[in-house]
Amino acid sequence: MDKKLTIQDIVTMKKAGNRISMLTAYDAAFAGLVDNAGIDMILVGDSLGMVLLGYDSTIPVTMDEMLHHCRAVRRGVKRAVLVGDMPFMSYQVSEGEAITNAGRFLKEAGCDAVKLEGGTEMCAMVKAIVQAGIPVMGHIGLTPQTASQLGGYKVQGKDAQSARRLLQSARDLEAAGAFSIVLECIPAQLSEAITNTVSIPTIGIGAGKHCDGQVLVTHDMVGMLEKFVPSFVKQYVKLAPQIKEAVAAYKDEVKNGRFPAEEHSFNMQLDVSTLLQK
Ligand code: KIV
Repeated sequence: MDKKLTIQDIVTMKKAGNRISMLTAYDAAFAGLVDNAGIDMILVGDSLGMVLLGYDSTIPVTMDEMLHHCRAVRRGVKRAVLVGDMPFMSYQVSEGEAITNAGRFLKEAGCDAVKLEGGTEMCAMVKAIVQAGIPVMGHIGLTPQTASQLGGYKVQGKDAQSARRLLQSARDLEAAGAFSIVLECIPAQLSEAITNTVSIPTIGIGAGKHCDGQVLVTHDMVGMLEKFVPSFVKQYVKLAPQIKEAVAAYKDEVKNGRFPAEEHSFNMQLDVSTLLQK
């Protein structure tokens, strides 16, 4: 196994021109598969609210839910940098609460860093958390926790004013001490400009090819979610139909008695009929 990666390794990758790979995971089994494949960073995203827990958005996700899944993922990860996503209202209220909750991701769940959504307006929180000794990843562009304020789940930064605001947010996050920034759903030209402006790595999702790294929701890229596939997602395999086919075959074989077969059964030497004699 390669040595465990550090936050410093991630920052150095940008300077060396090495692209950074990142995926989500929410449990130990998936995290182990992702880590073994050599992915550099694993995010326990609050997307788990929709992907695993059946919520309509990320808003209801709680600290307890995030910590529960981060602990599971920690047990499956040996090499990648592990980032825990701070849920809605866990960092907005006060700097004190933001530091306390960010600290829980490290102390109680073994994360290496936290991620939080927001640009310039969140920089005081980012600075406070970083000064407390906790690495922070920023997240700008389409920020799902505040999607309603942004007019829904749509591409951000298309006009000059909002593009300028995002560029400034990236600069401010770097100045506040963030070690990297997720750029979600912004035009490729803008993410290229941001990537060339800041010295910390940019990690894109729906932000084109010029970012220093890319992140996707793993369940999206392996085709496990059929309801909606965002246009920026590439599905490397379509698992949902395969899983459905396997489950249907199992059901049929249970119903018609073909499962379990001899090779799935245990045997013993004892003649059981002797046990039935009175
Ligand atoms: O919650 C999440 O999975 C995320 C990624 C999509 C960046 O924030």
